Amino acid sequence: MSINPIRKKEDIPDERYRKMLLTLLERQAGREIAGAEVFGQCLIHAPTYEHKLQLVRLQREELKHFKLIADLLADFGVDVDAFVRNGARGETRFTGNAADLQVEDWIDGVLFNFMTDRAATFQLAEYVKGSYSPLGKATAVVVRDEEFHTRFGERCIEELCQDPRAREEVQRRFAKWFAGAMRIFGRPGTPGNRYCIEAGLKSRDSAEVAADYLDSLRPVLARCQLRFPRREEVSLDLPPELDLTVPSAD
Ligand SMILES: [Fe+2]
Ligand SMILES: [Fe+2]
Repeated sequence: MSINPIRKKEDIPDERYRKMLLTLLERQAGREIAGAEVFGQCLIHAPTYEHKLQLVRLQREELKHFKLIADLLADFGVDVDAFVRNGARGETRFTGNAADLQVEDWIDGVLFNFMTDRAATFQLAEYVKGSYSPLGKATAVVVRDEEFHTRFGERCIEELCQDPRAREEVQRRFAKWFAGAMRIFGRPGTPGNRYCIEAGLKSRDSAEVAADYLDSLRPVLARCQLRFPRREEVSLDLPPELDLTVPSAD
């Protein structure tokens, strides 16, 4: 089914679309500002001047992303300052579960970037071709910046895993960060997911997006000699079709 693009808010067809769009925008704005806040925690633990400098860039870009989405919210009359002031703290804003995102040292910081920020980008990229053009345009800018965030996350995890003791610790914590990242995609096939696809707000069910995310992680895990957690290690119901294998490194 081809869906006509909606170029401005006045062209929104009905209340249901408007409500869903606002929900997606608020969730995204919350994640962008949370990203900036959690990168602030990572900054404390970053090992070198150069890592700290890169993190400041990431943090600044998350705030820029927040502003892009917040401007769309403001267009609907949302008081954006109140949204920031009254919203949950960073960790809760991201996945709905504060325990997912506590950054207590550099290993946590790297896992946040490598797992969580990356998952949020995969989730968000769905909006680029979505039916609400202003969101598509804003998202295209965000996704471009996020390429660097993804590369930095990969670089940091590869650096960490050169030390066998650090690699062991990364593996030990992996199930926890994995569960948090998977929470970002939500449960597949929900009525909300189905409506978003019908209305063209997204093109695919979140299960397909999650599968692409896992595919993107596989070669990095292979290089780092890491594995996905086993299903029983993850505190979350994972869809049975999810492929948790990692090829051996070349
Ligand atoms: Fe972002
Ligand atoms: Fe990011």
